[in-house]
Amino acid sequence: MVNYKDLGLVNTREMFAKAVDGGYAIPAFNFNNMEQLQAIIKACAETKSPVILQVSSGARKYANQTLLRYMAEGAVQYAKELGWEHPQICLHLDHGDTFELCKSCVDFGFSSVMIDGSSLPYEENIALTKKVVEYAHQYDVTVEAELGVLAGVEDDVVAEESHYTKPEEVIDFATRTGCDSLAISIGTSHGAYKFKPEQCTRDPQTGKLVPPPLAFDVLAEIEKKLPGFPIVLHGSSSVPQEYVDIINTHGGNLPDAVGIPEDQLRKAAKSAVCKINIDSDSRLAFTAAVRKVFAEKPGEFDPRKYCGPARDEMTKLYKHKIIEVLGSDGKAE
Ligand code: G3H
Ligand code: 13P
Ligand code: ZN
Repeated sequence: MVNYKDLGLVNTREMFAKAVDGGYAIPAFNFNNMEQLQAIIKACAETKSPVILQVSSGARKYANQTLLRYMAEGAVQYAKELGWEHPQICLHLDHGDTFELCKSCVDFGFSSVMIDGSSLPYEENIALTKKVVEYAHQYDVTVEAELGVLAGVEDDVVAEESHYTKPEEVIDFATRTGCDSLAISIGTSHGAYKFKPEQCTRDPQTGKLVPPPLAFDVLAEIEKKLPGFPIVLHGSSSVPQEYVDIINTHGGNLPDAVGIPEDQLRKAAKSAVCKINIDSDSRLAFTAAVRKVFAEKPGEFDPRKYCGPARDEMTKLYKHKIIEVLGSDGKAE
């Protein structure tokens, strides 16, 4: 049994309370490799932003859970080396799907876990979430739950209103499970293709897709039912068109990739939404930078020469999100 407190990590409780009060959101960035982690920590150290490092099942398969956990422990020390005196870093399991997986993360030094029972029938989601909460809380590990279904990782259909979180369920769900935060569905989804072209309009000037707005009315109803309760948004990448363009003009093929406009996320961050999940944007930043190096320097074969620029681009992206979108800069001095 490893307690996250001995690793210098923190859970989400205080982070979220301050974020809800302060009208900003904590960045939740996924990491799968060293360059991503370095970029996240550098961006957060330079902006003094609290951060949630997320490990998905895909990341565990790709990089090994043990290694990722030690990397997070190393990240705390790296943050201090960068001059961040009191780093506030949470290590979080993203989309945990079983009690056993959540338990193994709690036992291994994670400070927060998500149990994603959103695809289960309501009562089964409650029972599973409650079981995870009862275990995790013994070690002061915080638990994120989910109600409502996002498209993408969780199913194959596009986000539709029928999948939105039902505001009339949230009080019962939060009370009976004891979860610390709640991921909701209001129109975001995972990946770089969040909407079909037919769901969007086209900007007449640029020809780019303009997605439909998020369901802020549903969010407002949820906030009314659970005042001050921490709300989480998954699938919140913006799919920056600069990266899509670089990728597409340097040998890639991402037709009609579209994300959540940043003004929508800025608005959400000012509400009870206090955790915003971003993964795809960092993948796009990485890929754009690597494709550019390969196109411009076809003789390059030292991975440091293309992973280095990719890391710099991700650092730029993370700082932009922290300062310009989430408003979490300066909140962890
Ligand atoms: O929730 C989705 C995250 O972007 C993780 O994706 O399962 O491909 O690592 P992944
Ligand atoms: P994006 O695919 O929009 O980056 O969402 C990531 C996410 O929700 C991870 O849980
Ligand atoms: Zn997610």
